[in-house]
Amino acid sequence: MNQSNHRTYINHDWHYINDYQDRYISAFPKTNEKVSLPHTNIELPLNYFDEKSYQFVSAYERKLKVEKKTDKRYILHFEGVMAYAEVYLNQTLVGSHKGGYTPFSFDVTKYLTKEENTIFVKVDSTERTDIPPHGFVVDYLTYGGIYREVYLEEVDENFIKHGLIDARDGQLDVRLLFNAEKPSKEEVIIIIEQDGREIKEIDCTLDYHQNEQTLSYNIDLQTWTLDNPVLYTLKILRQGETIYQTNFASRTLTWKEDGFYLNNKRIQLKGLNRHQSYPYVGYAMPSSMQKLDADILKYELGCNIVRSSHYPPSKHFLDRCDEIGLLVFNELPGWQHIGDEDWQDLSVLHVKEMILRDYNHPSIIIWGTRINESKDMDSFYQRTHDMAKQYDHYRATGGVRNFKQSSLIEDVYTYNDFVHRGNNIGLEPPKKVRKQQSPYLVTEYNGHMYPTKSFDDEAHRVSQLKRHLAVQQDAHKHQDIAGAIGWCMADYNTHKDFGSGDKICYHGVMDIFRIPKYASAAYRSQSEEPYMKVASNIQIGDFEASEIKDVYVLTNAEYIKFYINDDFIGDFYPSEQYIHLPHPPVIINDFIGHLIHEHETFSTKDADRVKSVLLHIMHHGMKLPLKEKLKMLIVLMKYKMSIDEAAKLYEKYVGKWGMESLEYRFEAVKNEQVILKEIIGPLKETSLLVEVNNHIIKETSTYEVARVTIKHVDQYQHILPYSSEVIHVEVEGPIQLIGPNLLALRGGSIGLYVKSIHQKGTGTIKIHSQRYGTKEVQLEVK
Ligand code: GAL
Repeated sequence: MNQSNHRTYINHDWHYINDYQDRYISAFPKTNEKVSLPHTNIELPLNYFDEKSYQFVSAYERKLKVEKKTDKRYILHFEGVMAYAEVYLNQTLVGSHKGGYTPFSFDVTKYLTKEENTIFVKVDSTERTDIPPHGFVVDYLTYGGIYREVYLEEVDENFIKHGLIDARDGQLDVRLLFNAEKPSKEEVIIIIEQDGREIKEIDCTLDYHQNEQTLSYNIDLQTWTLDNPVLYTLKILRQGETIYQTNFASRTLTWKEDGFYLNNKRIQLKGLNRHQSYPYVGYAMPSSMQKLDADILKYELGCNIVRSSHYPPSKHFLDRCDEIGLLVFNELPGWQHIGDEDWQDLSVLHVKEMILRDYNHPSIIIWGTRINESKDMDSFYQRTHDMAKQYDHYRATGGVRNFKQSSLIEDVYTYNDFVHRGNNIGLEPPKKVRKQQSPYLVTEYNGHMYPTKSFDDEAHRVSQLKRHLAVQQDAHKHQDIAGAIGWCMADYNTHKDFGSGDKICYHGVMDIFRIPKYASAAYRSQSEEPYMKVASNIQIGDFEASEIKDVYVLTNAEYIKFYINDDFIGDFYPSEQYIHLPHPPVIINDFIGHLIHEHETFSTKDADRVKSVLLHIMHHGMKLPLKEKLKMLIVLMKYKMSIDEAAKLYEKYVGKWGMESLEYRFEAVKNEQVILKEIIGPLKETSLLVEVNNHIIKETSTYEVARVTIKHVDQYQHILPYSSEVIHVEVEGPIQLIGPNLLALRGGSIGLYVKSIHQKGTGTIKIHSQRYGTKEVQLEVK
């Protein structure tokens, strides 16, 4: 997000070889293959692969012509290389970097010639124990390659390395960190823009005699809020030329014992953890997909916070969080293991690299300065905390632990609370977890406690949903919990020690392609955009003893009108069981309503009796308690009914066997208006629903990607969860398919990714299936 006018992206036309030899530095093997960044060192299958397959050393080479000017300096920037990089320019080593999640740069001025230059990068993607997170086991894959962008920046002899902008309460502080080759003073203009419109111009003098300088001004800016995330751009111009540029915003962040406050307003934090990995290409996804994840979290999942577990995410992801108003918990790379002193030094450096890169993002509200779920080690964590405070005294720190009574160096006690097992409390009360009073945030729950596949049976998928509801309910109940961030947004590839044995952790509320499971509705239904999702296909045969006990309707409406075959069954209201949630689910546990009263000849009292018995069987099975038995007996005797006739009543009103048509209709009502409708009925027609997230692919500094989802659906567009229909995918025009072209749906759906190839035009995606023929969708690459 920081940038000057003089940036040359170097993302296309790299030569790549999946092997490394010293001699490649001077003589790169002739390969015809050219790759673009973000690049993965190997494409992986969706699951069941050897996790060692990406752990190797590879080499990249790129030719570069530069109009080198004598009074300028040239800085080569790498946004992310996994995990160790050695960078050579014209065969000379210019520097190296350890750590795949933070950016690095080298001043390459003295190595650059006016002629064609050669950049060579040795990339070690092995799981080196000297680089976090490695040293022991890790529950995710770290993948390999130059997986974020690269660019060359032309700057003056004196230049601004970093600008740290603070704006709140009418005050703007601009802290500039300099690189000064020839200390001097310079007259510059600071311009503040909003939506490209200049709103303020300030004359000032930069003094390069110091390493840094802070400029302070009074200025009235609109505040950045979740609903109206107003962003500003700050530019520094010297003689009409932009020498520095960044986005920023004005807002206050306060953590108190009773929660988190944005602009002095308490915000109940509710969100999910996100891994930045994708099927096949691992981490190597460009800005379009990074941004889509932020959009999914905010709009499809209704979250107000995301934790970038367990490392700093792509800058594009953070840019989008700023733009749409999604809060971020950003943390240093690591997972449970703390290495030796050098490892710790590196980790402290990663905190610095993270903060210098990400300081100006208004969306970030806390820095994670502990290795996720590692043990207490005060000496180390004092250092990571101090490093954070050295650069950012304003933002709070947290450190994610998974045990109680941990020593607190940070500002917020951030805790992974896995107490919930489906039938107990959702969360521990904070006073049972920490020693002293402090702000308190739950940073994980659920996840491995209940892995759930989109092709699991319905009861399992609904159970996952209930667990997310139960924990969020407790997070809302305890006034001293700032909120809770669940594990996790989407399924992800992982090591052999975790997951379901196929190298996938099925912990997401969405699958690995970000297609929602029922549990996602636990989040989405808590937002204010009208929403209703019936978490059932109402197929009794899919349940133990063919008993559907209740149907969860996730909604933010006031109540649900429920009909069976156009017969009104009843109005159902938000469940008292979830009273602490802003929008408790509506639980439908009566499928009979007044049907028996209306369609049978029983007296009202006897119809009540029959209904009570049938509902009891529906919820608890055939073993009736004495009270229900007596009710049944009275009816049998009074109406001289046989057991067979009684059984028919069960079939008719509960089992509903043999009915020509059985249609369940749910109407969501708000302000006495039906705002949404959902029908679940017998399967009549099926089709493949092909949806594209972004029909226009706009290339940025590199290629971009569109996500396509394919769903096997019924006539109401409900996914058919046990379908594994096979499809064959072909693409034409300036696009390429990522991953295999022959696929079986998983849980009735699958995602596809197609990428642009640095050419403009119309791309066509053809989805062939034996059953449905060919479906075509088109994309424009601009
Ligand atoms: C946590 C860990 C996460 C993930 C999760 C699975 O302990 O921090 O990275 O492994 O468990 O539930």
